[in-house]
Amino acid sequence: MKFFIDTAEIAEIRDLAATGMVDGVTTNPSLIAKSGRKFLDVIAEIAALTEGHVSAEVAATDFETMLKEGKKLAAIASNVAVKVPLTWDGLKTCRVLSDAGTPVNVTLCFSSAQALLAAKAGATYISPFIGRLDDIGLEGMELIADIREIYDNYRFKTQILAASIRNVNHVQQAAKIGADVATIPPNVVKLLANHPLTDKGLAAFVADWAKTGQSIL
Ligand code: G3P
Repeated sequence: MKFFIDTAEIAEIRDLAATGMVDGVTTNPSLIAKSGRKFLDVIAEIAALTEGHVSAEVAATDFETMLKEGKKLAAIASNVAVKVPLTWDGLKTCRVLSDAGTPVNVTLCFSSAQALLAAKAGATYISPFIGRLDDIGLEGMELIADIREIYDNYRFKTQILAASIRNVNHVQQAAKIGADVATIPPNVVKLLANHPLTDKGLAAFVADWAKTGQSIL
């Protein structure tokens, strides 16, 4: 499973990149607004920091402008993946950009029918939003399983990028189902390594080692 970090905060990306766990980054207009920085500048900086794809989302909602914006975003760096919403204009933009060799992340996916359209439009990634479905009492993880089944039926190359992740369980469940990527908020990434029994066991090892009076170095 590839780990993408869902943030536009440079410091958070740098911090997590040091762990070797960052395979890419996703941003969206809300994360860019939260960063308080100029969109094109922060995408260029993140792309220079990151080996893998960096998702940069178009702002327009009409095909013609989306396409112009998408081409401008793709020109920032070779690892920029253009993010488009799951609308007919977004799917048309996805088709044109994908045919031109630009990686495209189709976002705001909430049904398997939408995911089927994104795969047929040549999307590199589909971003089903788990947390936002859970937020309204639906089963976000069921959507991941449904998309995995449909994509496997037809051997679609589009990668399932599990998004809107709220907790460690979302990551675990998405990995069990076989999502290709999880885009994870930095605070959730840091929780992935945590377990109380690990802490307890390590404390006991440290205490018992101290009793030996030995040192390895
Ligand atoms: O960036 C796409 C997605 O991960 C956003 O999730 O937390 O705004 O529902 P969220």
